[in-house]
Amino acid sequence: MPNLASPRCDATVAWAALRGHHEAHGREFDLRQAFADDPMRFDRFGLQAPEVFADLSKNRWDELTRRLLVELAEDCHLAARRDAMLAGDPINTTEGRAVLHTALRAPRGAGPFSTDVHDVLDRMLAYAERIRAEAGAAYTDIVNIGIGGSDLGPRMAAIALQPYCHPGLRLHFVSNVDGHDITPLLQGLKPERTLFVVASKTFTTQETMSNAEVAREWFVANGGKDTARHFVGVTTNLKAAAEFGITDTFGFWDWVGGRYSLWSAIGLPLAIAIGADAFRTFLDGAHAMDKHFAQAPLLQNLPVQLGLLDVWYRNFHGFTSRSIAPYHQGLARLPAYLQQLEMESNGKGVDSDGRTLPFGTSPVVWGEPGTNGQHAYFQMLHQGTDVVPVEFIAVKRPSHGHADLHTKLLANCLAQSQALMQGKTSAEAATEKAPTASQTLDRTVLARHRSFPGNRPSTTLLLETLNPRSLGALIALYEHRVFTSGAIWGINSFDQWGVELGKALCNQLLPRFTSGDSTGLDGSTAGLLARLRG
Ligand code: F6P
Repeated sequence: MPNLASPRCDATVAWAALRGHHEAHGREFDLRQAFADDPMRFDRFGLQAPEVFADLSKNRWDELTRRLLVELAEDCHLAARRDAMLAGDPINTTEGRAVLHTALRAPRGAGPFSTDVHDVLDRMLAYAERIRAEAGAAYTDIVNIGIGGSDLGPRMAAIALQPYCHPGLRLHFVSNVDGHDITPLLQGLKPERTLFVVASKTFTTQETMSNAEVAREWFVANGGKDTARHFVGVTTNLKAAAEFGITDTFGFWDWVGGRYSLWSAIGLPLAIAIGADAFRTFLDGAHAMDKHFAQAPLLQNLPVQLGLLDVWYRNFHGFTSRSIAPYHQGLARLPAYLQQLEMESNGKGVDSDGRTLPFGTSPVVWGEPGTNGQHAYFQMLHQGTDVVPVEFIAVKRPSHGHADLHTKLLANCLAQSQALMQGKTSAEAATEKAPTASQTLDRTVLARHRSFPGNRPSTTLLLETLNPRSLGALIALYEHRVFTSGAIWGINSFDQWGVELGKALCNQLLPRFTSGDSTGLDGSTAGLLARLRG
């Protein structure tokens, strides 16, 4: 590993300069004024990366902010940290592992472990094509059983790429250990027409193994024959899969983090749905973004710019969340996917050396597709007391033929970022007619209710079309953005110790549901246990 010894980000010269810049110009920065002062602002703050154009101009930053943020990246050795990841150095120090999801989408012969990667990829895609060839006859339903990274990625991508999916195959996803998830699904399936994909990096996850057992019992109880043909495993733990009785297995490696595993054999259900060629195109799109991340200067590097903007908002403006608003129904599960990607990666309270951090890390990431969100929580985004940067994602060309619907969708998308920025003064509101407003309320009071502060920041990401290539590039963009902010904060973005305590306590509580023993439990847990057993 290169020597990355550096002061922590908050001890750098650039951090102090950013602090001063925020005091002098950041706190009071007004987007409306910025556009009035600079007719070229859209051009100056627009960035084209592979498959994705980003309008960064409606954010509360200026050229100096961006320069200082790049200096911060340099002070924190961002480029060397990135290169260490891409080279396969063990940057996941708490688990002693490399972080090489980028190798999964490198062309044959180009990345680390290329022979292993392409061997599994070739076998997996050949298997996917075999299943597709038998669609309708042997198989009609594919059920992915997995959770977290073994669910969210393929589920999100299969919805996004629905127009590319095989029309003769229905894809289902079971993740929750709640029986309300798998039970209704099984009711509609036929064992002889179903393929279960048991997807788990570790093959020990309680939820996945429990659901896989339920599926196997159901299969046998309903006359299913030839388990080997109807269950396939995707895991790094080939031994555990064999012990479960699965003979067809596609492996991957400990240098693929769960939330970065969509590109590995975890992508099998997606590959079955969209086919080998489209899956390779999906990998190519991600690889194009990898090259951009590896090579573009930091000021023109889109994932870097987005990651630095995240740091600016989190640590200088003090914004605690970011809302994702994809204006495309196909991206309905993107916010859920990004929650794991960003919050499991950067939701850390100590740096890589174990020192408690005195500054904020991962924001809360949340959202829903537009326009649905507009009719739910956008009220708070426009008039609430917290500033929440919003990330709009728009797609120029739809895959349906309803051009008028698409135009309305896009107009809504632009109108929302415009409204967030422009706002409306009380004076403006007072001049307007408001047919549904009270006729008796004082007009000044009413105008205050109907005013908007504005100056609310947003980013808009534009894709030409939503297809395998652009989706691959978009996801890789988010991965590298999360890497960037994590690297600035000096945290390990690739472990997830925070999920362990709950798992351990669950295992301790399970036998108490049978025994009723509440010895040593806190009063609340004991009380709830008693009520749930009663
Ligand atoms: O509990 C968190 C986690 O380990 C995630 O990081 C992971 O994506 C998920 O569980 C599922 O893990 P596995 O693929 O090993 O079943």
